[in-house]
Amino acid sequence: MRQEVVFRMGIPVQNASGHPVGTLEKLVFLETEKKISEIVVRDLSGLKRVPLQWVRELTEHVLVLDHPGNLDDLPVFDISQFEEVPIWFYPPDCRIEVGSLLTLKPCDERLLGESEAMSRRDFMAKSTALVATLIGISLVIPIGGYVLAAARTKLSDHWVTLPVKLEQLPMDEPVSHTFNAVSVSGWMRVPVVRTVWLIRHSGAEDPFSSSEDQILGLDSPLEKSRSNPYLTVLSPICPHLGCSPQWFSGKKLFICPCHHSIYEMNGKRIGGPAPRPMDQLPVLVGKDGSISILYEEFQVGIPQKIRLS
Ligand code: FES
Repeated sequence: MRQEVVFRMGIPVQNASGHPVGTLEKLVFLETEKKISEIVVRDLSGLKRVPLQWVRELTEHVLVLDHPGNLDDLPVFDISQFEEVPIWFYPPDCRIEVGSLLTLKPCDERLLGESEAMSRRDFMAKSTALVATLIGISLVIPIGGYVLAAARTKLSDHWVTLPVKLEQLPMDEPVSHTFNAVSVSGWMRVPVVRTVWLIRHSGAEDPFSSSEDQILGLDSPLEKSRSNPYLTVLSPICPHLGCSPQWFSGKKLFICPCHHSIYEMNGKRIGGPAPRPMDQLPVLVGKDGSISILYEEFQVGIPQKIRLS
């Protein structure tokens, strides 16, 4: 049986000596051979192309290279030369976040001036649109309901109820929780694996003895869910450059292994280069203690918390 390989973007990348050299950003797909040929790593000087053969070990939390030093001498990744691989070409035995797999643009498009390439793309886009319209007209009645359903996709569709109840969580001790989710991109829904930090607060009144009014139900407005008295949910992605901060129980701190940003239990930044606190995610606790979260990702490296679309 073939084993599935999971590529999680944003995980720390280490060299052969175990030193952090950056974070995993993208994957490069070789169209001619239908396989991944390189990984793209963000280090302190930018994005670098690293041959896949250099990958010695890959887990959902770290990628280790069979390379002793840093990535200074490797070629720079120029994103303008690449384009996204459509989801239907993704290798079946790899789990990859949508949009992370790129391939080189056709040579002629890179050699043409940008305006010529644009006009060629424009022509292709218009021709494709015309054909699509003709096909679409013939299909619009039978598939109308499906298209309308997809168009109605709302933010609430991204809520995930975790398979854990509030009472099962330890007090004041962050626990990392991995869950299966569905990434929605346009009409595509792709299964992905996500991780969050859950922190149950001891100071809050016991939700199970509270009046119903105090419980945040699933119908509560989104803004209310951003501050929950019982539970804080933090993104696993460091807002500096996207590594994964780890919880050190003895120190009662989150510490990011890449550049040593340090955060308190509630995600407040107290040291290191991170430009903002760890990103808090909206959470709703049901009357039965069920936990529903809205998984979001944000731009890294800037003080503002800007959601990635
Ligand atoms: S990625 Fe730089 S400190 Fe976390």
